[in-house]
Amino acid sequence: MNAPVSIDILKQHLIDPEICIRCNTCEETCPIDAITHDENNYVVKADTCNGCMACVPPCPTGAIDNWRTLLRADAYGVDEQLTWDVLPTQGAVPVATLATENAGASDIIEPGPQTDTVRGSTVPPWSAAKPHVNLYTHKAPTTATVVGNYRLTDAATDSAIHHIVLDFGATPFPVLEGQSIGILPPGASADGRAHHARQYSIASPRDGERPGYNNVSLTVKRVVQDHDGNATAGVCSNYLCDLKKGDVVNVIGPFGGTFLMPNHPNSHLLMICTGTGSAPMRAMTEYRRRRRLKGATGKLMLFFGARTKEELPYFGPLTNLPKDFIDTNLAFSRTPKQPKRYVQDAMRERAPDVAQLLKDDNTHIYVCGLKGMEDGVLQALKEIAEGQGLDWDALWQRLRKEGRLHLETY
Ligand code: FAD
Ligand code: A2P
Repeated sequence: MNAPVSIDILKQHLIDPEICIRCNTCEETCPIDAITHDENNYVVKADTCNGCMACVPPCPTGAIDNWRTLLRADAYGVDEQLTWDVLPTQGAVPVATLATENAGASDIIEPGPQTDTVRGSTVPPWSAAKPHVNLYTHKAPTTATVVGNYRLTDAATDSAIHHIVLDFGATPFPVLEGQSIGILPPGASADGRAHHARQYSIASPRDGERPGYNNVSLTVKRVVQDHDGNATAGVCSNYLCDLKKGDVVNVIGPFGGTFLMPNHPNSHLLMICTGTGSAPMRAMTEYRRRRRLKGATGKLMLFFGARTKEELPYFGPLTNLPKDFIDTNLAFSRTPKQPKRYVQDAMRERAPDVAQLLKDDNTHIYVCGLKGMEDGVLQALKEIAEGQGLDWDALWQRLRKEGRLHLETY
């Protein structure tokens, strides 16, 4: 009788470069740094990934959820994956045969249960409407026509944030508040590859920027500096901010199946944002404003940070909303002769009211905007909760599991 052949089989985790919108969510989520990227692609290191699946639910497009079964010795290396334009097809590996012949086949990595390493929820609120995702892809995008493009921030300031309205005409493009779309900017990067899509949160409610019309609005900041403050011209944000009425853009999406609002009328929204992170908050607030239900007890509390009042998008309309509809708290970091104030500071000032919301199982928390704010906001929530005798770690886990803590920073 032949001895069992020891063949090492790998279920290799791969990212589809045709669908991936390079949003970095997977790399941030991975608890063991198994994901990396270059200018071209996001890829998974075969020798590090343990198939924990932590990255799969947060991926807005599903590009992350690709697997190929092959001999471990033939695993695709990082350098090779970085050059891909399309995923390789599954080769013929006699998995069934191996499973019976090979005692070592238990080495196949099967996707395991989700780990607790993700900081926010990977599930939507229980009462969220069901979203449509990935109706249009890189291979088959759709188009929308620009019907409005207005600068929201004061012309005298450095922050150029635009409100851009895109109309889909008769093309179905159903969206929910909290979802995003991908824009395919024209042209190619230095290596000749077409620019990849950039993601933008939808700033309008599900029934349209203009109710009853098939349109969405975006809140786009013109990127003129990179994260280190060096001058640069962001490809897609400059393209969008320069668009004129009547221009046609290539769109993919919609994306996002978890950062969605609850639909039971007694749910509370605790919204914390900076800059363009206000887009989904505007969408949710406007949806609630349009459907104010008599007798509903749901509250809206907003913490919104910007450099100055002139650089806060939607400042006018926001401050005109009735106080009994939304509890708005603004934090400005660069008002001349005033101390620097961040959203976290404003939250601490309102600690008793924030804690009241934290104690209520109907509260859903949304954080969107600068990456850097995430730690500070979670720290503020922890201090506020503990200051009121709440066990933050237990509450945090519960919020995550119940789809009540949503983080989207970029
Ligand atoms: P690129 O050409 O991609 O980058 C140029 C340089 O600027 C690079 O060095 C890059 O590292 C740096 N850079 C990229 N983004 C920024 C930034 N924001 N600030 C400073 N430097 C930057 N943007 C919005 O304006 N509104 C939104 O509602 C919005 N929603 C988003 C939602 C999600 C889930 C994600 C992941 C991103 C979102 N973004 C949003 C960011 C957006 O997708 C682009 O990353 C951004 O517009 C920059 O793209 P770009 O092509 O102009 O710059
Ligand atoms: P700052 O004045 O320190 O840059 P931006 O205009 O760059 O989009 O930023 C929006 C607001 O977010 C600004 O007021 C900015 O302040 C503030 N901000 C910067 N870092 C953080 C952080 N770590 N936590 C909260 N807010 C922040």
